[in-house]
Amino acid sequence: MTVHIGAKPGQIAETVLLPGDPKRAEWAAHSFLEGVELVNDVRGMLGYTGTWNGHRVTIHGSGMGMSSLSIYANELIRDYGAKTLVRIGSCGAMQAHVALRDVVIAMTASSISTPSSAILREVNFAPCADWGLLHAAVTAAKARGVNPHVGGIYSSDTFYDERPDLTEQMTRHGTLAVEMEAAELYTLAARHGARALAILTVSDHLQTGEALDSTARESSFGDMVEIALMAAFP
Ligand code: HPA
Repeated sequence: MTVHIGAKPGQIAETVLLPGDPKRAEWAAHSFLEGVELVNDVRGMLGYTGTWNGHRVTIHGSGMGMSSLSIYANELIRDYGAKTLVRIGSCGAMQAHVALRDVVIAMTASSISTPSSAILREVNFAPCADWGLLHAAVTAAKARGVNPHVGGIYSSDTFYDERPDLTEQMTRHGTLAVEMEAAELYTLAARHGARALAILTVSDHLQTGEALDSTARESSFGDMVEIALMAAFP
C-alpha cells in the first residue's frame, strides 16, 4: 500500500490506462477486461486490474490536473512497477481542422509548469511520448477507421483559462489541443524509465465554443480504450 493506493504488491499490472475520471475507470474495466478486480478505492480514486486478450492491465483514475496525476503516476511507477502508462481523456481543440470527437494523439506536451518544474528549474524540458506506443496507437486507430491528429498539445494548469493571449500563441504555434495532465505524465515516465502516451478525444472547441454532451463523450471514450489497449499490446 502507498499513501494514495490501497493495492497489495502484485495487484497492479505493468500496463496502466489512466482516465481522469475514476467512474470511467470502472466502466472501462467492466466493459473491456476479463476477471476484473477492484484494487484501489482510496479517496474514491478507483483502480481495477483484469486481463485483455490474456494480457494483465490496470485501469486507474488519475484525477484532473497534473498535481493529481503526478501523485498516482509516481506511486504506480515507483512503488508498483508500472512500465507502460497510457492516459485516455478529453481535450479542447485549438485548431480549425480539429473537430469535436476527433482523436488527438499527443507527440509532445507543452506547459507553463508541471510538478516537475521544481526539479528541472531553468530547463524547458520537452515532454514527449514514447515512440513505440505512439506509432502503435496510430496504427491501431487507423485499423479501427479512425484518422487521428498527431502532434503537440498543451497541458494547462487551469481549466478556466483567462489568458486569451496564451491560447492565441499556442494556436499560432500549431498546438492541436489543450488538456491538463500529459506533460507531467511524459516527464515522470522519462525520469523513471517508463513508457507513456496520451490519447485524447475532442470534447470541446476553443474557437467555436461547441461542446459534446456526456452521452457523446462516453461513446468516444470506448474508442480510446480500445486504441490504448491495441497500442499497449500490438
Ligand atoms: N481546457 C482544459 N482541459 C480540457 C479542456 C479544455 O478546454 N477540454 C477538455 N479538457
